[in-house]
Amino acid sequence: MSVDDGTATEQRHAESGDTESAGTPKLHAENLTKQFGRIVAVEDVSLEIQPSEVFALVGDNGAGKSTLMNMLSGVHEPTKGQIYKDGQPVNFDNPSDARATGIETVYQDLALMDDLDIATNIFIGQFPRNGFGPFRIIDWDETYERAEEIMMDQLGRDVDIRTEVEFLSGGQRQLVAIGRALAFDPDVIILDEPTSALSVDATRLVQDTIDTLADQGITIVIVSHNIESVLKHADRIGVLFQGQLVDIKQPAETDLEELNELMTTGTLASGRLDD
Ligand SMILES: Nc1ncnc2c1ncn2[C@@H]1O[C@H](COP(=O)(O)OP(=O)(O)OP(=O)(O)O)[C@@H](O)[C@H]1O
Ligand SMILES: [Mg+2]
Repeated sequence: MSVDDGTATEQRHAESGDTESAGTPKLHAENLTKQFGRIVAVEDVSLEIQPSEVFALVGDNGAGKSTLMNMLSGVHEPTKGQIYKDGQPVNFDNPSDARATGIETVYQDLALMDDLDIATNIFIGQFPRNGFGPFRIIDWDETYERAEEIMMDQLGRDVDIRTEVEFLSGGQRQLVAIGRALAFDPDVIILDEPTSALSVDATRLVQDTIDTLADQGITIVIVSHNIESVLKHADRIGVLFQGQLVDIKQPAETDLEELNELMTTGTLASGRLDD
């Protein structure tokens, strides 16, 4: 699997045509509101995310990004509103419910086990097994084979899957966490701040990986503070301001300055670029 330099987004567009007219949305949030006591963290957000789209959510601290993401991934139940997956209404009591419909989430803390190797981290909690009933034992050959498939074929990374995770760089750790999500064979992956603590090289590695996954037909929702990267890699960018979705932009029709203005004020002073 080759990994390219950021042209994947354009290619994807060329192949799939206009993402706006691609039929049934992969994910549809309808009038989602989440209140914590008197705080309205997310207010009346409606949003459609198309199959194999890379959709970025940006916004200032406290804008409601994590809360919105957590409703889509089953961590929080909406106070009001409805989520649809592939056109069907879904109600998630917990992340396992979301997982059962094909939605996987990579949380910011990654939650990897440092003293275990890559393959074990990818399959922990759901190892392939052999045998019957109480005699089912972990099939280590299958575990390593499938882990290798995920890292090599799906993520395009030539790593030794027997390496303990403590020896990996930040970017590689992020890839292992994405590999663990892929082990559940999802069609949607939600990533919370995938590049926030990474070096420039590691950020590139993770961005290339996100492009690769979208090319495989996986829908990606990224929460990110990294506006420059989002402008390069996202198909569309949703801006949250004080719990409300104030705008959705395509990278080609906006820029760093405009997104910053939207994020900090919720509006554009002069309707600039809105022609
Ligand atoms: N579990 C909770 N209980 C009470 N209030 C909460 C809870 N989670 C979030 N909030 C509040 O909801 C609002 C939105 O928070 P959220 O974490 O979604 O923002 P965010 O955009 O992810 O911010 P950041 O960039 O800092 O991660 C904030 O005012 C926050 O204090
Ligand atoms: Mg957050």
